Amino acid sequence: MSHYYFDHNATSPVAPEVLQCLLETMAEVPGNASSIHYYGQAAKRKLEGARRILAESIHCDPRELVFTSGGTESDNLAIFGIARKALREKGRAHVITSAIEHPAVLNACTQLEREGAQVTVLPVDRNGRVEPVDVRNALRPDTCLVTIHHANNEIGTVEPVAKLAKTAREGGALFHTDAVQTVGRIPVDAKALGVDLMSIGGHKCGGPKGVGALYIRKGVELDPVLFGGHHERDRRAGTENFPGAMALATAIAGGPDRWQHTAELRDRLERGILTRVPGIRLNGDPTNRIPNTANIAFEGIGGEAMVISLDLRGYAVSSGSACSSGAVEPSHVLLALGLDRDAARSSVRFSLGPGNTAEQVDGLIEAVVASVAHLRRVSPIMENRTELELAHA
Ligand SMILES: Cc1ncc(COP(=O)(O)O)c(C=O)c1O
Repeated sequence: MSHYYFDHNATSPVAPEVLQCLLETMAEVPGNASSIHYYGQAAKRKLEGARRILAESIHCDPRELVFTSGGTESDNLAIFGIARKALREKGRAHVITSAIEHPAVLNACTQLEREGAQVTVLPVDRNGRVEPVDVRNALRPDTCLVTIHHANNEIGTVEPVAKLAKTAREGGALFHTDAVQTVGRIPVDAKALGVDLMSIGGHKCGGPKGVGALYIRKGVELDPVLFGGHHERDRRAGTENFPGAMALATAIAGGPDRWQHTAELRDRLERGILTRVPGIRLNGDPTNRIPNTANIAFEGIGGEAMVISLDLRGYAVSSGSACSSGAVEPSHVLLALGLDRDAARSSVRFSLGPGNTAEQVDGLIEAVVASVAHLRRVSPIMENRTELELAHA
């Protein structure tokens, strides 16, 4: 049986040109970018080359970029870096975030509360958008940071980041956005967005896992999170992963072209399911969204059962985010949109990527139709069975 991948928001395969760049850099440049000899200089040239390419892609100065180990570390560096500095210098720190952020942000905020900071978690509307007026009302004199993602990993909603950042700035706070699901897939201009900090990740856009970057606008100061050598201008200690940085920059530079066709495929998928399957609803914002994501609630069917049933037919999709699937709790994102627990539990995320084709999408539609028919038939007669048993029934 053939297998097809529709879970690119969890991770996306490394693009061929990125893999080639990664392997070549690793094979040809063995040095440490901090060494002063010939080998070190060659490594340093690669690292700074990667920084220039990435800076060009997101329209910033290369000195405004710090390479990290991925989206989670970038989020942590932004949030702890700003809030701990405020706590250390002023004895107070208030952070504003939204209810539908990735755990890399929400759990960092929970830890901040243990360290003495205060955190306000804003609600979202039924499409997953944060209202700038809610940010304005939550701002306080001690608010040091507003952190709201650019696009959500489960539903694909794109937030009005430029307006949110302007609101934060007017209130005297810095603004951070987690752009792990957007940079490298759609054009993103850090300056036009007006953000102070922006997290970037490699593995959602054809780059390798374990590499990312944090954009830190010139003039913004933060405390480091890792302590060690004087790497990355004292902002992130640790020997630089310059092959990873080169691969990240290459993935992001060519990303939007590779991902452009996913919007058409996503629309084809949604149309196919909408016309063939009764009792469904689309979750998220119908217009303000990234091109590749469809999140659909299938009335009366468990999302996990759908995932298993589709997997048995050769299609990899997801219910909830990768980090939370396997857990029985419905997604915090879908609950925050106002879905009840049953509707949230019945939702499936389809996330497309560069490798998907119209034929694969048509096959997926057939598999969805067959899975829904199967699960709606067996679930009434197999009450109290697990979703795994239902999918296999
Ligand atoms: C929106 C968002 N932020 C952060 C992360 C974490 O990124 P990484 O896996 O690179 O640590 C992810 C990926 O799961 C994500 O989707």
